[in-house]
Amino acid sequence: MRKKNSWLNNEINRIAWLDHYTKPEKVEGAIKLDSNENFALSKDFVTSMAFEAAKHVDLREYPLDQVGDLYAGLAKYVGVRAECVGIGSGSDQIIELLLSTLGGRHATVFSPTFSYFINRCELHGIKVYQVPLEPNFTLDKKAFVKAAKKSDLVYICSPNNPTGNQFDRQEMIEIIDSLENRLVLIDEAYVDFADYSLSRDALKRNNVVVLRTLSKAFGLAGARIGYIVSNKEFVKLFRSIIQSPYPISTLSLAIASAILADMEHVKHTIRSVKSERERVFTRLSKIDSIKIFRSDANFILIETGKNYQAISKILHSNGIVVKLLGNIANHKGCMRVTIGTQEMNDKYLKCIEQTI
Ligand SMILES: Cc1ncc(COP(=O)(O)O)c(C=O)c1O
Repeated sequence: MRKKNSWLNNEINRIAWLDHYTKPEKVEGAIKLDSNENFALSKDFVTSMAFEAAKHVDLREYPLDQVGDLYAGLAKYVGVRAECVGIGSGSDQIIELLLSTLGGRHATVFSPTFSYFINRCELHGIKVYQVPLEPNFTLDKKAFVKAAKKSDLVYICSPNNPTGNQFDRQEMIEIIDSLENRLVLIDEAYVDFADYSLSRDALKRNNVVVLRTLSKAFGLAGARIGYIVSNKEFVKLFRSIIQSPYPISTLSLAIASAILADMEHVKHTIRSVKSERERVFTRLSKIDSIKIFRSDANFILIETGKNYQAISKILHSNGIVVKLLGNIANHKGCMRVTIGTQEMNDKYLKCIEQTI
């Protein structure tokens, strides 16, 4: 029996009460607009790519040279050298690894942001300073830098989840450059839909790690492939010591390399998601009683105010699943909605337009 006040008991109690990420529920046959996956990429395309890739792997062996192929494919896509790329089992796992090795004692984030990051800091006993964004979701640079300078780790989500926006590029560079000696983690999970990436800027600095993923634009959320871009010394440390020897399965490595070798289709879907984002934004902007926030990602944040319950209900009864966030600071009844195919988006728009 564990003693009531033992270290183990206290620690288990502390962990048991922490906020944690709740996985979305699987609703059979639903129009899935809750997790920012890329459904503009057809299931047939991804499946046939996976089948073809599977023919060339030998699952009896540990993955060896396939890792190098993926570094090369990712490096080409991002426009950096292969030695500046590391991989992990989704960017979630990379966050976890960095927190457990280099998280320090204090982290700074702006808020709202990707709640998983905050939850994981708390799990690791890292205290998180949360600097609120302005009501229109811009950043108070001075307040952010002031808090960040007191911390060991700084997390910047760009574009930000759930608000969808990227901050001014020059402003970001100035923030990063004022935070030497701290680990600056820039989460670019949605950058493929945005105007700029800081990946190449990370190479010139010794404390900046850019985190990216194939879960969103590349339609491979189920294959669990995340990656970092950083200076080559950091990546060397990451690959050899921080990350375990075989970070992802041979099958996932082969699928990822295959999709990176055939980028035209992915690029086409990114363009179509961006044009759908514009169309959905324009349509929703015409509705006076809700507020829409401009997005650089593959989702849009909507403040529905007193229409929250009615909209949630109609979406539910039409089998449309979105991320229901409730109140965010002074914004009432917020929902985050993934941009899907034109057909999916039309069904969603129809529900909203009919309700209010
Ligand atoms: C900002 C952000 N970072 C990271 C992730 C995790 O991505 P992955 O599937 O690579 O673990 C997500 C997923 O929703 C996200 O929104």
